Amino acid sequence: MQLALPQPGEDLLDVGCGRGASLLPAAAAVTPRGRAIGIDKPSAMVSQATRALAARGLTHAFAVVADADALPVRTGTFDVLLAGLVLQFLPEPQRTLRRLTHMIRPGGRIAICTPAAALMTWTSSTAPQTRPSSSSWAHLHRNEHERTCRESTAQP
Ligand SMILES: C[S@@+](CC[C@H](N)C(=O)[O-])C[C@H]1O[C@@H](n2cnc3c(N)ncnc32)[C@H](O)[C@@H]1O
Repeated sequence: MQLALPQPGEDLLDVGCGRGASLLPAAAAVTPRGRAIGIDKPSAMVSQATRALAARGLTHAFAVVADADALPVRTGTFDVLLAGLVLQFLPEPQRTLRRLTHMIRPGGRIAICTPAAALMTWTSSTAPQTRPSSSSWAHLHRNEHERTCRESTAQP
């Protein structure tokens, strides 16, 4: 959110908005004439985000149930795309990101946050500590972000 710096009047899409950790401040930032739309797959997340937006009187912002991979792409719809801690859940994150960047207007911004693969460890009480080796998010390195941003004319 702080990297993307949404401005008053801008239109913003928050992919995988969850309960609204980024969507709520982003919605406040684009007020009064901008729109902020959050999408998330489980309706429980969307319900919580919707309630939080309403509680703050952010009536120009919405959270809707949608799959990032099935989102209809309408070219040049948004000024800002946020994808916070969601790409690692997608089967083909690079492909999805490239698709979504078509929705950003020229000069728009994309802010992505992913866990650092090298730092991620999984633990359980029964298995030794292991690192994921081939999951899709592990390949989503900074170079990929930069390449995707270059292709979409956004700044990495
Ligand atoms: C770790 S949470 C991050 C939530 C929020 N962006 C934040 O930074 O707090 C990841 C979110 O991505 C959502 N998500 C996972 N796969 C998704 C998909 N294919 N389409 C939309 N949302 C998805 C999850 O439901 C979850 O709410």
